Amino acid sequence: MSNEVKKDYTDRELASMSNEELARLGTELDGVTVAYRKNRWPVENDPAEKRAANGIAIWLGVSIIMAIAFLVVYLFWPWEFRNLGEEGHLWHTFYTPALGLTSGISILALGMAVILYVKKFIPEEISVQRRHDGPSEEVDRRTITALLNDAWSTSTLGRRATIKGMLGTAGVLFGLVVIAPLGGAIKNPWRAREMDYYGDGTLWTSGWTLHEQGVKLYLARDIGAIAEEHEGEGGTHYTTTGVSRLMRVRPEDLDAGGMETVFPLADEDVNDGDRYDPARDVYENHMHSIHGPRNPVMLIRLRTSDAERVIEREGQEDFHYGDYYAYSKICTHIGCPTSLYEAQTNRILCPCHQSQFDALQYGKPVFGPAARALPQLPITIDEEGYLIARDNFIEPLGPAFWERKS
Ligand code: FES
Repeated sequence: MSNEVKKDYTDRELASMSNEELARLGTELDGVTVAYRKNRWPVENDPAEKRAANGIAIWLGVSIIMAIAFLVVYLFWPWEFRNLGEEGHLWHTFYTPALGLTSGISILALGMAVILYVKKFIPEEISVQRRHDGPSEEVDRRTITALLNDAWSTSTLGRRATIKGMLGTAGVLFGLVVIAPLGGAIKNPWRAREMDYYGDGTLWTSGWTLHEQGVKLYLARDIGAIAEEHEGEGGTHYTTTGVSRLMRVRPEDLDAGGMETVFPLADEDVNDGDRYDPARDVYENHMHSIHGPRNPVMLIRLRTSDAERVIEREGQEDFHYGDYYAYSKICTHIGCPTSLYEAQTNRILCPCHQSQFDALQYGKPVFGPAARALPQLPITIDEEGYLIARDNFIEPLGPAFWERKS
């Protein structure tokens, strides 16, 4: 029992004890009884020991090679998306399996090496320990250190330079396997690139910013069209040629009290009405507009009696077209789509945290956590009677961010 063990050792007595004696004393003081202990390799230079070490080295080698292979795949593999039939499609298809396979085998091999090491080299031991309360005393701290030293020396790791080195290398490379993929997530959010339906990649812009470059932007609805089946020389295939996903909207397309989600559609991507050409393929650009994170806009047609009660925000008095008002659909709280328009109260509701915005008061928040009005898009119609953006938004869309002043 641990309370029968002598504990009041002087510094001198402790200093005179060997590491083995301190380790044994430590187990006794901790209430641990070592019932059975046997060294795995009592005979020095046992050939079986060498074979065991080689087996572990092979697993570690596999782990190292696979970790390096993972990094090579991650950095140099042609991962960019390629459609079926395009050159490089096969390489693209195998990118993710190659990452999974190399990292998986690397982890598995490292795990096998550790398990084998424990089984082959750590002494077999059965110990029984009783728990006790209270803080550690000096003698306990010393003996614990001795026990750790003992574990290190009996594990024989100290004298196995090859395995130690390979284990260290495998550990470092395994760490890289875990950390390296995070590198792809590190991006400069303010590095502007060419403007397109995604804006220039910064939070200040959206697809509607194309207007500042002189692009005529229609307000277009998503009709959900998908690729169509065609009979061609190579047999039946699906194609998006002649399929328009976005269609321009006219004022008369909306009933009074109605709401429609619209996206920016550049003049050169129009393929509907009298400009429809079955040989054109504008589908991809339409999808880019729909996927632009700050592009969705709620086009609301107020009832005339409600429109008479509208309070315009200063500087935005002419942003509407008749009874038609266009507000960003991206909630100014944390960016959910404010999809619900309640025509009786003229309120726009965000389903995420129940913020409510008043469509009769420039999208001003009237309930919930949102603190800023929904930005309003200036709109009008063109000579053909289609609704178009008259300008870009005059403020950033969506939630607040560090650099925003208001
Ligand atoms: S994101 Fe709209 S209320 Fe929170």
